[in-house]
Amino acid sequence: MVDPMHFEASADDYAAARPSYPAALWQRMRTLGLLSRGARALDLGAGSGQATGPLLHAGLRVTAIEPGPRLAAHLRAAHPVADVRICRAEDMQFSASSFDLVVAATSIHWMDLDVLLPKIYTILTSRGRLAVWRNVFGDADAPTTHFRARIAEIVAARQAPPRPGPPAEDLDATIVALTTSGLFEVTDASTYRWTLELDAAAIGRLFRTFSDWSAGEVEQAVEAVRAVGGTVTEHYSSWLVVLAPIERPSTP
Ligand SMILES: C[S@@+](CC[C@H](N)C(=O)[O-])C[C@H]1O[C@@H](n2cnc3c(N)ncnc32)[C@H](O)[C@@H]1O
Repeated sequence: MVDPMHFEASADDYAAARPSYPAALWQRMRTLGLLSRGARALDLGAGSGQATGPLLHAGLRVTAIEPGPRLAAHLRAAHPVADVRICRAEDMQFSASSFDLVVAATSIHWMDLDVLLPKIYTILTSRGRLAVWRNVFGDADAPTTHFRARIAEIVAARQAPPRPGPPAEDLDATIVALTTSGLFEVTDASTYRWTLELDAAAIGRLFRTFSDWSAGEVEQAVEAVRAVGGTVTEHYSSWLVVLAPIERPSTP
């Protein structure tokens, strides 16, 4: 299994290269009423702040959970007003109804849902929402570029360690994982397609942050960019699923 602290080991690359999320995803959050100014948000697995920043910018008060101290240092430097806690999400301690919104951005697959979901259920207000989203680095529905054909060859030739949770692109499997506890129901699900222009150095920085890519494989990806002229247009997608806590029947 890949190491959940991989991102900590590549914290500088992570802060420099990992993109945030498409504007349309944030617009959907706004349309759903999840970005109310002053609302209390909890960002789980916050990394260097890819979701924390836009949440703060929207006027929310953000508590960020990040187990990696170097990532947390990047997060604090970029967003000094965020309340950053260095711990695993499964170990967090908050009193009941502390948050209006809990988010996990490209991170919930690293967490033990049997421990986490009951905690989120308790710390969310009864009208609060859990918003889970994920960047998928490689849109299978986009036309295959020369660079992506080479990436497919590199991937086919390697023995990558398995990553936790459902495959990144499998929103349906993620929804099953998030709802089987019976604590949450889906209120909204959506997918966004976007592109990013990257040169060889940027591909190196970004691919070094991928938990299942070795240094040698990243170097092959960098070579592949140079072979097609030095820049590539990458087609990525992001999905978003919003869940509401299911009301418990009141005891007589
Ligand atoms: C792919 S990164 C996502 C970071 C950021 N949210 C983003 O949108 O780019 C996954 C993050 O989850 C964190 N993580 C891994 N296991 C975790 C756990 N059990 N509890 C909380 N965070 C965890 C990692 O340290 C890393 O920062």
